[in-house]
Amino acid sequence: MEKEYIIAGNWKMFKNVPESVDFLEALDEKINTLPRNGAVEILVFPPFTSLYAVKGISTGIKTGAQNLHFQESGAFTGEISPLMLENLVDYVLIGHSERREIFKEKDGDINKKVKTALKHGFIPVLCIGESLEEREAGKTFSRLEDQLDRDLEGLNPDEIEKIVIAYEPIWAIGTGKNASPEQAQEVHAFIRGVLQKKNGSPETARILYGGSVKPANSYDLLRQNDINGVLVGGASLKVDDFFGIIQDSYKLANR
Ligand code: PGA
Repeated sequence: MEKEYIIAGNWKMFKNVPESVDFLEALDEKINTLPRNGAVEILVFPPFTSLYAVKGISTGIKTGAQNLHFQESGAFTGEISPLMLENLVDYVLIGHSERREIFKEKDGDINKKVKTALKHGFIPVLCIGESLEEREAGKTFSRLEDQLDRDLEGLNPDEIEKIVIAYEPIWAIGTGKNASPEQAQEVHAFIRGVLQKKNGSPETARILYGGSVKPANSYDLLRQNDINGVLVGGASLKVDDFFGIIQDSYKLANR
């Protein structure tokens, strides 16, 4: 069976409007040299300020927001409502470890955000991951299952099926130290099993790996059975690096 991939770039707090436009124009030119392939979805999460400006630059690249608020409007200074994102993005990143750790987002808030995103027709990319301490204490699986239980609480199987999960071990984010393909595969298979308990259709679940993904390791990660794509931080900021990862997914999707 042909494998489908999502190659996603999380730009975090990088790139102003002209830089975002330049990047997408350059990437669009490169992906136009590849055969059209419905088996690879290319996706970037620019900062909010760039979303309107990059709309429509490339028909081959989808966009997502890096966060959203669970209320539709109100006195929430500095927040972005789902209504403001309508017709602007297809995806929303929810529960990135930087949101959890630095901005103290709790699973309860993340659960509300997932529900809000679905209600407004966005595909949530829900990030989960264990810390180094949890991994060393042998608590990786229990930690991830606990996050999935809390973050997906109250969702029905149809809703769960729409969600993309990004497994991002915290110790691998921005550290240059990626999980080995075998480590990632083991966890992805576990996550698929947990999702199966919740929705009964494991083959449709889309589970991305994130954490120090770069062209040097993307092929071996993408090759793993239960890895359906990657969420890339640092290496998504350079057109050549991100394109290199996209090329790897093409090689595998075309087999
Ligand atoms: P990294 O970031 O690729 O720079 O490790 C991944 C992420 O935070 O999504």
